[in-house]
Amino acid sequence: MSMAFQLNGKVAVVTGGNRGIGRAIALGFVHAGAAVAIMARDNVRNASTLDELKAQGGQAIALSVDVSRREALKPALDEVESRLGPIDILVNNAAFAVLKGLLDHTEEDWDSVLATDLTACFLLSKYAAQSMIRRGNGGKIINVASIAGFKGTAIFPSYAISKGGLLQLTRCLAIELAPYRIQVNSLAPGWTATEMTAWIRTDPRYEELYKEMVTRTPAGRFAAPEEIVGAAVFLASSASDFMTGADLVVDGGFFVR
Ligand SMILES: NC(=O)c1ccc[n+]([C@@H]2O[C@H](COP(=O)([O-])OP(=O)(O)OC[C@H]3O[C@@H](n4cnc5c(N)ncnc54)[C@H](OP(=O)(O)O)[C@@H]3O)[C@@H](O)[C@H]2O)c1
Repeated sequence: MSMAFQLNGKVAVVTGGNRGIGRAIALGFVHAGAAVAIMARDNVRNASTLDELKAQGGQAIALSVDVSRREALKPALDEVESRLGPIDILVNNAAFAVLKGLLDHTEEDWDSVLATDLTACFLLSKYAAQSMIRRGNGGKIINVASIAGFKGTAIFPSYAISKGGLLQLTRCLAIELAPYRIQVNSLAPGWTATEMTAWIRTDPRYEELYKEMVTRTPAGRFAAPEEIVGAAVFLASSASDFMTGADLVVDGGFFVR
């Protein structure tokens, strides 16, 4: 691996790192030399992914954190710093979607999606940036957005609205944090085969939509989570030091059709 893409000596946090895209990114970071903390709710999955991370020979920890609980976020980052050292890389990856149009959305649906998919990203970015600024050694914040953040949808509107907000959070923070050598970029995957997309891949009610999405994707298929990792390692590494405020789209060409 080119020196520019190495993460040796870096400490990274990946929210939602126990499965899907977050798990793949955490494994990719360990492979590139970083010490990695994953944060998610399911302790069984946390433990099994932690085993995988350690099996790669990496230094890793798993924290049981519900990122929608605001009061849990600062203590969680503090715990990472006390166990692994100061945070160099934050990946805001944890998210979920409610499959209801806005007319059917309850206030609770809206609040819970926004809390997990956007507010937690704001707070974690703020706390991580405060630590990075104190240390004076720069840093990287990667917001896992989505192609849904650029488009309207009646299927998962609060999710798409959160992702649109996350793209703007990226741009605003990029400007504010550039003087501190902290780069903030978003990584926008296209359709990827994870539990998040099980509904469209397996539920017969969505068969036509699935076919449409595959047809609209020039690559002609959903991505594997591992296909998102290279972009994440790039954004976490010194290879991307002059890149900030950008939206890196990894979607098999979906966006350009
Ligand atoms: N799959 C796609 O097609 C696709 C496309 C574009 C963007 N993305 C984005 O990629 C990211 C990862 O998605 P994925 O497809 O890998 O989804 P996934 O397989 O459903 O994984 C979601 C992860 O987030 C964690 N999580 C959810 N709510 C949480 C909470 N309140 N607190 C802590 N952790 C929480 C989950 O762990 P626990 O349940 O154990 O907490 C899990 O690790 C998300 O930001 C998603 O929006 C995905």
